[in-house]
Amino acid sequence: MIVFKRMSALLLAGVTIMAAAGCGSGGGTTASSGGADDGKITMGFAQVGAESGWRTANTKSIQESAKAAGIELKFSDAQQKQENQIKAIRSYIQQKVDVIAFSPVVESGWDNVLKEAQTAKIPVILTDRAVDSADTSLYKTFLGSDFVEEGRKAGKWLVEEYKDSTDTVNIVELQGTTGSAPANDRKAGFAEVIAAEPKFKVVASQTGDFTRAKGKEVMEAFLKSNPDIDVLYAHNDDMGLGAIEAIEGAGKVPGKDIKIITVDAVKDGMQALADGKINFIVECSPILGPQLMDLAKKVVAGEQVPARVLTEETTFTPEQAKAALPTRPY
Ligand code: AHR
Repeated sequence: MIVFKRMSALLLAGVTIMAAAGCGSGGGTTASSGGADDGKITMGFAQVGAESGWRTANTKSIQESAKAAGIELKFSDAQQKQENQIKAIRSYIQQKVDVIAFSPVVESGWDNVLKEAQTAKIPVILTDRAVDSADTSLYKTFLGSDFVEEGRKAGKWLVEEYKDSTDTVNIVELQGTTGSAPANDRKAGFAEVIAAEPKFKVVASQTGDFTRAKGKEVMEAFLKSNPDIDVLYAHNDDMGLGAIEAIEGAGKVPGKDIKIITVDAVKDGMQALADGKINFIVECSPILGPQLMDLAKKVVAGEQVPARVLTEETTFTPEQAKAALPTRPY
């Protein structure tokens, strides 16, 4: 915790030490006081949970990058519950951390706690997922993917795949956590692209909460009520992998009888793509740690940062997955 008590002692030691340690605040506010006087930046990070391979890789990236950057990390796992994240953020405010970062489980309902952080003069960085707050001064920056674009990429692959067919294409969709930015945006981007051609019909769309178990359960229900599914669009690899088990359990061949598009490109998903069980994956990078720590240092030092920091991402076909797998880090 960077502190301003015992200021005279620090002044004696030289103000340059304070500058080097990143003393200051985000966006022109005054830095918070209190906590241990060790000259280190302390970050409170409120993680969504451990719902997917993507999330595990994201947590690892944040923990390793904090260590490498010399930032003290207070980390909490909200188990996919907004109330747990709000509690964690309030506890970081009480502990007077230097910066709070979090990946909001859902988009709505953050204004009060964000205002509390602002009143306490603790800068907030949104990581991975957005909030729908109209007052964008409640956070310093938003680091993460363009989820709408990810949905569009999934839709464009589908349009190309069926370009020579005039038959109806029956699609089922496994949505991410209800109310979350990736679920809302991946649905919207995909719908926008396939709307151009009436042959594409989404015959069922339900949440699988980004987990493998729920993906399997919901796909089993889809298969029972929809005998002619041509395509599954799953908002992440884990739900797609659960759905593969359901499809195989129903005596169908994933990737052939039912084409599968997913998002993320974690190792298990990439392996299923290389094996022909998934047909196309849109990448969503979980490696946000290094950029997050750089942004944290800047906002704590009171430097200007861009309002939006986008991650760079690609897409994978089975051939590209085979080539990428040996060096895939997560
Ligand atoms: O917010 C990113 C999404 O959250 C990932 O695509 C999904 O796997 C995770 O649970």
